[in-house]
Amino acid sequence: MSAVQAIRIERASDNDIPVLIELLAALFAIEGDFSADRSKQRRGLELLLAQPDDRAIVMVARTQDGTVVGMASAQLVISTAEGAPAAWIEDLVVRQSLRGQGIARLLLHEALGWAHRHGATRVQLLADNTNTPALDFYRQIGWQPTQLFAWRRFLRDA
Ligand SMILES: CC(C)(COP(=O)(O)OP(=O)(O)OC[C@H]1O[C@@H](n2cnc3c(N)ncnc32)[C@H](O)[C@@H]1OP(=O)(O)O)[C@@H](O)C(=O)NCCC(=O)NCCS
Repeated sequence: MSAVQAIRIERASDNDIPVLIELLAALFAIEGDFSADRSKQRRGLELLLAQPDDRAIVMVARTQDGTVVGMASAQLVISTAEGAPAAWIEDLVVRQSLRGQGIARLLLHEALGWAHRHGATRVQLLADNTNTPALDFYRQIGWQPTQLFAWRRFLRDA
């Protein structure tokens, strides 16, 4: 059985938060605009998992013994461009030793299915423009880049 056949994608629970924090640390180590902060990541994950009305989801990829080896999150917004809900995909990361085996593809497949079931007509994400492996991955699985740049301004420490 290949590794990916032995992987199941599930909704994360509070019990998964410690390992999700580790996966996010690996992701934020790559992305120049972010830095890992365990307590912020814990609060963020708790907020995501507690969103009412299924407005957000955190998905995990588990091996047969239940070990979490990857994650992705999705959240709904309303797009006036689409005249419909759209979904932001964030926090996509796979444990380094298991990359290249189709796990992220599975995670995004489930995330897109979730978004579609909630009426979303578009999904979108932000990717660091120096993260060549991720950019190549998105191209490979059929995503298109946009002309948009992300801008931000902090309001207060969360
Ligand atoms: C980007 C990432 C999530 C991809 O996860 P993965 O599980 O290795 O990806 P998959 O195995 O599902 O790959 C799916 C397809 O993309 C291709 N692909 C994956 N990584 C690639 C790379 N670096 N370059 C080119 N193609 C790649 C695979 O070959 C596969 O193509 P195929 O099915 O046609 O053979 C993973 O490399 C990762 O966790 N990176 C660190 C975190 C990160 O950068 N996240 C994205 C932030 S925007």
